[in-house]
Amino acid sequence: MSKDRITPYHFIKAKREGRRIVMVTAYEYTHAKLADDAGVDGVLVGDSLGMVILGYRSTLPVTFEDVAHHLRAVLAANPRALVVADLPFLTYEVSREEAVRNAGRYIKMGADAVKIEGGVEVVDKVEAMVKAGIPVMGHVGLNPQRFLVLGMRVRGKTAEDGSKLYEDAKALEEAGAFSLVIEFTTSEVAAEVTKALRIPTICIGAGPACDGQILVFHDLVGLNVSPPPFVRKYAEGYQLFLDALRRYAEDVRSGAFPEEKHYFRMAPEEHSKFLELLSKKGTRARGP
Ligand code: KIV
Repeated sequence: MSKDRITPYHFIKAKREGRRIVMVTAYEYTHAKLADDAGVDGVLVGDSLGMVILGYRSTLPVTFEDVAHHLRAVLAANPRALVVADLPFLTYEVSREEAVRNAGRYIKMGADAVKIEGGVEVVDKVEAMVKAGIPVMGHVGLNPQRFLVLGMRVRGKTAEDGSKLYEDAKALEEAGAFSLVIEFTTSEVAAEVTKALRIPTICIGAGPACDGQILVFHDLVGLNVSPPPFVRKYAEGYQLFLDALRRYAEDVRSGAFPEEKHYFRMAPEEHSKFLELLSKKGTRARGP
């Protein structure tokens, strides 16, 4: 596979050409390498790292530095996939200046784009970032960073809420976002938004009518023991690793690991010399 990097322009072109976009979250070098080797189009260094990596109960405590740390690890894999860095809670809401400065720091590190949550209320931030030359991915529907106010529920169950989400999506496109995550909305809302926008919609728990899909890495590979209801597990990662660790522990305790092939030996004459040297020092260790 060629190493021509995927850009925001490729996302828009994919929509125009009717090709579905595949995204997954990635938080470290190996995740990014796996995603890239699988031919995924984009990786998101999501603030979901707060839960799946750091064990927090929500994304709210995640800091700018947390995402920067994991972004650095993802970029070290030099992926072909588009790398999107998530702006965590309170790194873009307060002012346009703060949004541009923080987003710009991820771009300077090597991210291809940033993502922010929210609808019409963040349009001025999106405009400012795009004006500064920063590609922005929007995020409507369930916004986990606002769960204290909006809850953690399926959005777009009523005509009124659906129409609000539609307006949010249109406003973000108008402000210059190059794509939009739609999270946990009814499929009818995601379908109408997808039809109405020129930019691609990347959905999670919002049905099949979108231009692409994204899943959290740990949910997809089965490392999360209680994944959200919209996830399809493609591996039993937790059980797989648990079995491996149990077998390892058993082998260490029984002496079955390491075997001869797992270590290196001195040549016999060097070994004799070595023991002689030690006995001269009078420091020969206890041994068989
Ligand atoms: O942080 C994240 O992983 C996300 C995805 C759920 C889209 O925002």
